[in-house]
Amino acid sequence: MSGVEKVSVRIRVNSEPREALVEPRTLLVEFLRENLNLTGTHIGCDTTYCGACTVLLNGRTVKSCTLFAPMADGGEITTVEGLSTNGALHPVQHAFAECHGLQCGYCTPGLLLSTVHLLNKNAKPTDKQIRKAIAGNTCRCTGYQNILKAIRMASDEMGKH
Ligand code: FES
Ligand code: FES
Repeated sequence: MSGVEKVSVRIRVNSEPREALVEPRTLLVEFLRENLNLTGTHIGCDTTYCGACTVLLNGRTVKSCTLFAPMADGGEITTVEGLSTNGALHPVQHAFAECHGLQCGYCTPGLLLSTVHLLNKNAKPTDKQIRKAIAGNTCRCTGYQNILKAIRMASDEMGKH
């Protein structure tokens, strides 16, 4: 028994209300992975560097290893599990698959969320804007060229609708 008093955290995650009692120092990424079993959000560094833990909180990207879960209380979160609709991939997921924008896939959930955030704000980003938007997401495998291609493809596809 740790003896630490637990606090209730209520968050809408992928459009569903979720609630758990956690220790106040529980990181948001731990809350998602361990309390809600949403293991698509990855932990790469735990030090705000790699971006593998990126999710959307109230429509903006956050590195979920940098927030305590109670800080997101009352908020709205989107994780990678919330991107597809009725089994159909989100256009950003589809473009990453088509363009081979991943290898091991460890960085991919974070990159997908950063891309969704970018394209929601700016449907036709320049290469410079794309590079800036994903600057907080480290990929150790791909060399980024196919990721850039995927983001350009997603921008084109989403622009058609
Ligand atoms: S695990 Fe959060 S930035 Fe690396
Ligand atoms: S695909 Fe392996 S770290 Fe990006």
